[in-house]
Formats: sequence, structure tokens, C-alpha cells
Amino acid sequence: MKPVLGIETSCDETAAAVVDGDGRILAEAVLSQLAEHAPFGGVVPEIAARSHLRYLPEQVRQTMVKAGVDFRDLAGIAASSGPGLIGGLIVGSQFAKGIAIANGLPFVPINHLEAHALTARLPGLVVDGAPFPYLLFLLSGGHSQCIAVEDVGQHIRLGGTIDDAVGEAFDKVAKLLGLDWPGGPALEKLAETGDPNRYPFPRPMLRRPGCNLSLSGLKTAVAQTMMRLGEISPAQPECADIAASFQQAVVDVLADRATHAMDMMHARFPGSNLLVVAGGVASNTQVRKALSEAARVRGFRMVAPPVRLCSDNAVMVAWAGIERLRRGVSDDISFAAQPRWPLEALQALAS
Ligand code: KG4
Ligand code: ZN
Repeated sequence: MKPVLGIETSCDETAAAVVDGDGRILAEAVLSQLAEHAPFGGVVPEIAARSHLRYLPEQVRQTMVKAGVDFRDLAGIAASSGPGLIGGLIVGSQFAKGIAIANGLPFVPINHLEAHALTARLPGLVVDGAPFPYLLFLLSGGHSQCIAVEDVGQHIRLGGTIDDAVGEAFDKVAKLLGLDWPGGPALEKLAETGDPNRYPFPRPMLRRPGCNLSLSGLKTAVAQTMMRLGEISPAQPECADIAASFQQAVVDVLADRATHAMDMMHARFPGSNLLVVAGGVASNTQVRKALSEAARVRGFRMVAPPVRLCSDNAVMVAWAGIERLRRGVSDDISFAAQPRWPLEALQALAS
């Protein structure tokens, strides 16, 4: 199959990539808006949309030049069309439609979650590949979900967060600790010097049936502890102990939820034994260690795409486009970007 151009603008990364039918990445670019949002302590949707609008056209031009591919040589244009921040989704998907119409190419609207879900199938990315069906544990700033990935367009949501996403919880607690946004990596660093057993924070949902998550109670417990301690700076040992104790509570919850998810997966698909972990939080060493151990105990193989491909990027969007076009999914120029687009709704799109 000819190459596909992928475009990602669902949150705070502007990204473009050209991937060929064999999964070779011909060119890719990711522009992070971190610096633009940092003064506000989180992503500002209006700033995100304007920034995509400003940088995407030139980024796509340069990516195509780097790939050495002309628009007319493409099999199609794929763009994240939901779920996400609607302003950015409109910028990316309408831009993609414009290129598609101008060059007589199919436009493939991509569900951003499906793009994460299919990344592990990029040829050569993970050892021994990722044949269907497999279990995806998606742990990012906006999503925390356990998904049974049965096929392209066929996903079963086994569970997920009922309040904060895992990355969001890391970011909020990091903010309480006086760390900069996004707080996950900074909190992990601070936790290295802390005592994970100093504060016995709650482990919400532990051992409950299913694999739903809830982290807002844990976040509140941290806030209450900090209030009790009064004014403390990130340099004080109490802060490192809080960071380490919070991280340990999250790790324990994630390992438990993943274990339940693997049991649910096994009940539905007795032959399945693959756990794919993705999203920014998957780069946390303690999280990886605990999930890998939980997988080993359950007889599962755990794989995690490299961080640059499991946080937001356009390679995954182009690849999802290839997987869809291969299944004969045809042009869908009338598809309107959707801020909410559950994976279960995808089945109707699969051919
Ligand atoms: O997947 P991602 O790059 O972007 C989206 O949310 O779509 O995930 C970003 C999230 C942020 O909340 C960030 O704080 C968290 O992942 N994160 C981490 C670590 N690195 C990134 N959380 C904990 N430990 C880390 N090392
Ligand atoms: Zn994402």
C-alpha cells in the first residue's frame, strides 16, 4: 500500500507523520505546546487550537518534503477526529479534508484512542508483535482505560477511571507539592528520594470486582495531609515522602486493576496473553515494573511502545489509517470531529 499522512491535533501536541504500508516511518514531527500552556498550569483549549492552526500547515509541508512524498502519491490522509479538544480536532481534521479533496484522496477519520490501541502493531515495534486480541492499558493525562482490542474497529472497554485520569492525578498532586506542570515526571523524580511507606494513603477500588479506577479520593487524602503539615516546600523531605507514598498507592492500584483486567480478558479470550501498556504514565519506572510483574504472575507478556510513540504522536494516526484502509474502510469526508467518541461506537465504521 502507498504511504499515509497522519495528523494529530487532539490535545497539546501538533504532529504529522508519513508512514508506508509496511509500517516504515518515512518522516515524523511533533511540536509540543508545553511552554505555551505551562504558565496556566494545564492545557488551555483556545490556546491549543490557535497554536495548531498556526503551526500545522508548515509542519505538514516539511514532513512531506522530508518523506520525499507528493500528496498525489499517498493512499490517504488520516487525522485524529476525536475524542479530544474540539478546537484542535477541527483544525486537524478539516485541514486533512482540504488536502484530501484537493488531491482526490480518501480522508480517514481516526479515533484517537484507537490510534493508541493499534500502535503496538506497527511492524517491528514490540518484540514478537501484537496479534489480536490483546489487552490495552492506556494511561495518559486524559484517559485511563482497560480495553480489549479484538480487531480494527472492534474494541471492548473493560473498565476505566470513574473520575481523574492517572496522569491527571499525578499532575494535580504535583501541583499541590509545588512542582511544575506537567507534574508526572517531576513527581517521579522527587519520589526517588522519598519513603513510599511514610504516609498510608488509601488504595481506592483495590480488590473490587472489575477494573474500574478512582483516584480523586487519593488526591484528596494527599491534599488533607498537606494541609495538616502546613507550609512546606518541595525541598523538604516530607514532600519527597508524600510523592513516594502517593506514587506507591497509584502503583498498587494500577497493578491490582491490571490483574483484574487480565482475568476479564482471559475469560473473554482464553488464548490471549498480551498486555500492552501505553500513555505518558507508562514511562514511569515504578508503574512499568509493577505492571510487568503483575503480567508475569498472570502468565501475560507485557509490552510498552517507546515513550515517543505511546504519548501523543502522528505515527499512530497514520498507522491506524493504514490498518483501516487495508480493511477496506472507505473515504468518510462527511465525518465531523467529535469531542466525545467512545471506542465502542467504532464498530459501525469497520467494514
Ligand atoms: O500520553 P501523554 O503524553 O499525553 C496525553 O495525556 O494525551 O500523557 C501525559 C501525562 C501527563 O499527565 C504527565 O504528567 C504523565 O502523563 N506522565 C507521567 C510521567 N511522564 C508523563 N506520570 C507519571 N510518571 C511519569 N514519569
Ligand atoms: Zn492520547
